[in-house]
Amino acid sequence: MMADTNWVKFEIPSDTRNVAFARTAVALFASQLDWTLDELEDIKVAVSEAVSNSIIHGYQLGEGVVRVEASYADRKLTIVIEDYGQGIPDVELAQETGYTTIPEERMGLGFTFMHEYMDEVLVVSEVQKGTKVILIKEVPQRSEG
Ligand SMILES: Nc1ncnc2c1ncn2[C@@H]1O[C@H](COP(=O)(O)OP(=O)(O)OP(=O)(O)O)[C@@H](O)[C@H]1O
Ligand SMILES: [Mg+2]
Repeated sequence: MMADTNWVKFEIPSDTRNVAFARTAVALFASQLDWTLDELEDIKVAVSEAVSNSIIHGYQLGEGVVRVEASYADRKLTIVIEDYGQGIPDVELAQETGYTTIPEERMGLGFTFMHEYMDEVLVVSEVQKGTKVILIKEVPQRSEG
């Protein structure tokens, strides 16, 4: 059997008002799969955190473009959030709970939420080039009835 697949792609200017759009648009797309409401909420949080990071850290609240792609094949959802901003020098360190480069304002929990709510989080980044965050989550097998 052929895999059931679908995808969407969009770009938004780096503007915190667009975080809600990205989160809701991806959730609406993802809802083609049979998530529970809690799982959909988790996906929204993960997308919010990644898009916020691109705007706040990648572009330091300045101008830029954030690219969002969501796709699925059968039960596996993949979301890619990409910016062309300042990049992350150490992607392992950045993903540690509580690590933040803005300690006066932020908690350093964004990546922790992404890891908590998604099955896989992959971060590819190059300083002065940008950052790509790949979020993967599979619809769990549910018992019948
Ligand atoms: N897209 C990005 N571009 C550049 N740096 C990033 C990006 N995403 C994350 N970072 C770096 O990784 C650090 C950790 O990110 P994380 O989301 O876990 O915490 P935070 O954004 O600092 O705080 P919080 O998410 O709790 O508000 C950030 O402080 C920042 O230095
Ligand atoms: Mg964050």
